[in-house]
This record gives sequence, structure tokens and C-alpha cells, in this order.
Amino acid sequence: MISFDANAPKLGTQDMDQSPDSQVLSDLLNMLELILDQAYLGLVFVDTKGIIRFMNKQYEDLIGVPRKDTYGKHITEYFPDSRLPLVIETRKPEWGWKYDYKGRGTLVVNRIPIIKDNRLIGALTQCIFRDISELKDMAKNLDILQKRVRSYQTQLSDLLTPKYTFKDILGVSDALAHAKEMAQLYAGTESAVLITGETGTGKELFAHSIHNASNRKDGPFVCLNCASIPNELLESELFGYAAGAFTGARNSGKTGKIQMARGGTVFLDEIGELPLVAQAKLLRVLEDKRVDKLGATTPEDVDFRLIAATNQDIKSIADEGSFRKDLYFRLSALNLHLPPLRERKEDILVLLNDFAGNNLRRSVQITDTALAALKTYSWPGNIRELKNVVELACCLIRNHDVIDIDNLPAHIVEFRASSGEQSQHFSSDEARFNLKSKINEDELFLIKKALAECKGNKSAAASKLGISRSSLYNKMTRYSISA
Ligand SMILES: Nc1ncnc2c1ncn2[C@@H]1O[C@H](COP(=O)(O)OP(=O)(O)OP(=O)(O)O)[C@@H](O)[C@H]1O
Ligand SMILES: [Mg+2]
Repeated sequence: MISFDANAPKLGTQDMDQSPDSQVLSDLLNMLELILDQAYLGLVFVDTKGIIRFMNKQYEDLIGVPRKDTYGKHITEYFPDSRLPLVIETRKPEWGWKYDYKGRGTLVVNRIPIIKDNRLIGALTQCIFRDISELKDMAKNLDILQKRVRSYQTQLSDLLTPKYTFKDILGVSDALAHAKEMAQLYAGTESAVLITGETGTGKELFAHSIHNASNRKDGPFVCLNCASIPNELLESELFGYAAGAFTGARNSGKTGKIQMARGGTVFLDEIGELPLVAQAKLLRVLEDKRVDKLGATTPEDVDFRLIAATNQDIKSIADEGSFRKDLYFRLSALNLHLPPLRERKEDILVLLNDFAGNNLRRSVQITDTALAALKTYSWPGNIRELKNVVELACCLIRNHDVIDIDNLPAHIVEFRASSGEQSQHFSSDEARFNLKSKINEDELFLIKKALAECKGNKSAAASKLGISRSSLYNKMTRYSISA
């Protein structure tokens, strides 16, 4: 043990004899001195009489006197108003005191009595900040960081909180009532659910509602759209990766959506786009309830419920081999199929009333001809398309309260005209194709316009379009727009 009694040797080697034991001790003390010199803290140690026994390099630099000249001198010779003698007397530490050093700057110090086995050995000054402005900067940075963390926490909880419940799913048809009933039953279980149905039928709405009606409703609801992320990134997005898993990996590693959803639900939208390798891994995770992060050595326990959705005919793609059959069987055990709007036309009026009411903040009416046109139409975009049609009609009627046939898009009116009394025999495939090509045309036009306005800058164009950069790249490839 190193004794700090007044008569004890000073830290350093000058008083040592050269016996082998003292050589070891001397090496040890040199090493200790070296270590204490590396500390950010300035350190001065005095014995019970206030005599300086040790000072590290930080304090030596501060007072500008070789430290060995100070050893054996009273602390007040260098720090005339030092409070260390008082701390020795009272044995009470002082934390975070400001100390003005000879008008050369304000230090922030701790003064600590050193007591061992109830015996006072001396006292230590730790200079924690050499300049009070360091502390102020740090406090400011901390404040900024805390504000950022608070803002991210709010954003994250908004993101992770599902918006819809079963009450938001409107409709009076038997088909919808049946789907809601099944979904409520599924909500009570812990098994994975696969929601299928054409685009715009409300798959996302149902996914939110199932989570909100489940035992996991207070846990997070984490969404991942498999079509919006490049294949190479999907695996790490879903399962995460360990620090240094691959070149370019973040030092801190990455938490996967599955881990983020602890105690809650992962909603995997457009699951048909999940690459085969990730499908195999997902199946393992569902079976084992453990996940292997990329590059990690040990698997991690996970606690999540999976809800997947797709507007593809997943059985056919499983038969073709681009979706794993084993995963398909696992997911389809609880399959919720949402019927297209053309098979539940009774819902149109209820939905229309709600959408128009939300839009105009007043109730509206619809003429029989207009309603008949809506009921005849094939609705390839389903409820999303109806919502857009109602939005447009609301713009057109402005101050009137009645939606008429003139307020509906031409393709809906033409559809009725061309189907005539034969409305039952329309070709829904053809209508879907026409709408799709119209959507594609509009999309192509908007992408080109955004790229031109942003002078070819993809990030700016993507943000203007409200889509991710990778999604813009995918679309540019699809429409053969050169970079
Ligand atoms: N029964 C419903 N009642 C009220 N709104 C609905 C209903 N079904 C769908 N919607 C609305 O229609 C729009 C499309 O729904 P949603 O996004 O859930 O469709 P989806 O099946 O996930 O489509 P996609 O396959 O294109 O992702 C949303 O604005 C949703 O709120
Ligand atoms: Mg969706």
C-alpha cells in the first residue's frame, strides 16, 4: 500500500534505494504517475497536514512550476485560498465548486477527503473543467442533445403508434362485416396473420386495427414495406446487423425492425417482394423466436407478432417458386382476404358520405345517376380510388351540396356509358389496365418534371415527390429514365 503520511516517501522515484524490491515499487509508482498524467482530470493530493504529496501533469502545466518542486510544500504556497485544509478539517467533500485561479481562469473542482479504514489519509482536488466555458459548452450541448432526443422520441412514438382501429373501417356489406369479424378473432391470437386483397382494399387499415385490438396494443407497431427498400438492404433493415458486420457498416450496428417491435407487432407490407434468402430467415425467426443479426455471434431473443400483407396472388407466386412454400403455409394459416369494392358495392355510399364529410366538413348528397355510375364502375383501385374520386368531386361541387354525374371523372362516366345495361359484364381487367396505364403516364410525367426542376439532383427530386431515393431509382429504371 502507498502511505501518504507526512513522513512517507513522495510519489516518484527520487527517494528510493536501489534494492530489487524498491525497484519494483519504483516502476509501479512511475507507471501510476504516467497513468494519472493521462487523465483528463487535474489532480492534486495533499496529506493530512495540507502538504502536497502528488500533482499530475495537468496541474503542473496550470501552475507552471515543476511538480517535484512543489512536493513537500504546503498547498497554500501555490493556491493561497485553497479550501483543501478546510476539507481535511471537516472531512466533508465539496463537489463542483468554481475556483478562480489567480485571475487566470475559473476552474471547476471537486475536493474530496480520502479516508481509509475510518482514518483520514489526506485530501484530493480534482479539477473537472479547466475553464468554466468548457462546462457551459458541455451543458449547452447536453441541452441541445436532450431536446433532439425528446423530438426524436415524439416522432418515433408517432411512427410506432398505429392510427386506425376497427371503428375506422367503414362499410355495411356482409363481406366487410365477415372480414372484420375474422380480423377481430385473429387479433385475439398470437399467430402471424396474412392479409390479402387488391390494392386499396384496406389491408393497412386492418393491420393497424388488429394490432390495436390485440394484447400487444401498448407495444410498438413497426412497419416495413418490402417493395420500398432495395433487396440488398432488406435483410439488415429487418433483422439488423452487429457492429462491424461488413465494410461500411455503422460502428454502433443497427437494430432491425423485428427487434424494434419488442412486445408489439411488425407489419410487413408487400411481403411478396421479400427476397428468398430473407424469407428463409423470417421463417426461422417465426419458428424459433430468435434472430441472428448479420455478423453477430449469438442469436437474440425476439418478442413480436407478424402481420403481413400483399396485393399479389401469393399462392401463385409460391407455386411458381418465387415465394417459399413453407413460409406461405405458415402465414396463410390465418389468412384474412379483403374483398374488392366491386364485390361490396353497398359500401360505396357509406364510404362516400364519410370521405365527403371529412373533406367538406358538411354533409353532401349524390344524384341517382351519379351513384349508379359509381356502382357500375369496376373500382380497380378500390377504396383508395373511391377516396380520390370523392376528393375530386368535392373540389368540383364547391358551394353546392349535391354530387352529380358531371362531377365524376370521365373514365367512370364512360365506363357506365359503355357498359349500358350490360354493367354486370364489364371487363374488370381492361378497366384495371386502363387505369394502370393512366397512372403510369402521370407518374412518368411527374418524375421527369421533378428531375428537371431539381436539375437532375435525385435526392432533391425524390424529396419533392415525397418518395425515397431508392424508390426513385427503381421507378427511373422501370420507366427507362437515364440517370
Ligand atoms: N373500410 C374502409 N373504411 C374507410 N376507409 C377505408 C376502408 N378501406 C380502405 N380505406 C381507406 O382507403 C385507403 C387505402 O387503404 P389501405 O392503404 O389500407 O389499402 P391497402 O390494401 O393497404 O392498399 P395497397 O395494397 O395499395 O397498399 C386508405 O386511405 C384507407 O384509409
Ligand atoms: Mg398497403
